[in-house]
Amino acid sequence: MNNIILCGFMGCGKSTVGRTTARKTGRRFLDMDRYIEEKAGMTVSEIFAERGESGFRDLEHEACAELSDMRNLIIAAGGGALTFERNVEVFRGKDTIVLLDVPLSVIRYRLRNDTRRPLLQRPGKNKVMEELYRSRMPMYLAAADIVVKGESTPLKTALAVIDRLNLKKK
Ligand code: S3P
Repeated sequence: MNNIILCGFMGCGKSTVGRTTARKTGRRFLDMDRYIEEKAGMTVSEIFAERGESGFRDLEHEACAELSDMRNLIIAAGGGALTFERNVEVFRGKDTIVLLDVPLSVIRYRLRNDTRRPLLQRPGKNKVMEELYRSRMPMYLAAADIVVKGESTPLKTALAVIDRLNLKKK
């Protein structure tokens, strides 16, 4: 079976919803950032610090290509991954891309104490987040096959994904 790729802004719940969806359907869950970290032997923050964002984006693209060759996975994409056409192309027509749509106000609350995401570790974090959110949303929408509201609990959102995609429950 094809992979299901969860995309959306940082903090939209791709990993928690992905894990729950995988548990409920008996599929394997894979977190793209963890996959990149394991391959590189460094955390995402270390990759940004040592190789810059473009170094990270290259590793991310490599990961997309490798993961698209696998089957039956629920994949939590990194928040930036599906904003690059070269990554969308890798999955399009083959895997199903699901956007978890969460309002900026909820994202802002969820990420209020975040220290793990390099793009947000700078002065004026709220403004940076807002600009990034506004510029990325149209790209997520263009990439996605379906859009699921993601502001509810991970379980409810996972059940909505399962329902919308007609996935068989375990
Ligand atoms: C990024 C999101 C992060 C991670 C990296 C860059 C982005 O993933 O890939 O920090 O560009 O939005 P999460 O969406 O899982 O936080």
